[in-house]
Amino acid sequence: MELSLYATPRDFTEALAKGTHVIVIDVLRASSTIVQSCENGVERIIPVADVEDATKLIPTLDRAEALLGGEQDGHTIDGFDLGNSPIEYTRRVVEGKTIIFCTTNGTVAITGSAAAADISVGCFLNLSAVVARLVKAAPERAVILCSGNSGVLSLEDFVCGGHMAARIHAELGTRVTMNDGAEAARVLAGCMPDPETVLRSSVHGRRLAELGFERDLEFCARMDRYSGVPVVVDGRISGHDPDSR
Ligand code: MLT
Repeated sequence: MELSLYATPRDFTEALAKGTHVIVIDVLRASSTIVQSCENGVERIIPVADVEDATKLIPTLDRAEALLGGEQDGHTIDGFDLGNSPIEYTRRVVEGKTIIFCTTNGTVAITGSAAAADISVGCFLNLSAVVARLVKAAPERAVILCSGNSGVLSLEDFVCGGHMAARIHAELGTRVTMNDGAEAARVLAGCMPDPETVLRSSVHGRRLAELGFERDLEFCARMDRYSGVPVVVDGRISGHDPDSR
């Protein structure tokens, strides 16, 4: 397996995406919220790149069954039902619902990976499961795509990706070759074993704490809380991949 890690989606072109298996990471908080929603029985999530796409979609859906979720600058978007805190996405709120989901970086990374052969969503919450699914599929080319923050590396995504690279390396040994991004992240993750420390020291983590989302940091730092893996098929996430459990 050729494993590449990209610190942001900026350099991950459509040509690079073609034929690859991609794990999209946005620890704070889009991928954590997606994993949590799938765990709580959401019917489907439609990730969109911007608010305009979200508002175009809403009239095509039964409003009683559909929710608009996401954030701009960390806050709930005007007119949306939910923000981007995974804690909001309880079973009572999301079970059986369709969520149109729009965030600054995470959903942009997901929609931008559309040319890939397989797209899964990963974070600390489902780290072992998303790695096990990839190792089992054994694609020739795999990508760990960190969402970053507006084209800039995010520590929490990079370290989470590094933990994934380390697990893949431990599983496959000489059967995996890594690009410099994956190797650098793997080495750094070895120095940062505690996810909560990483989240609390990162720029975005500190900003979320300032905005009053302290509990989200604790929540998103929980390693392997879940064993399910959301997958994106034809632009939709329909719960966890049944084979990932
Ligand atoms: C994003 O997509 O940029 C993030 O999920 C932002 C956030 O923490 O809400």
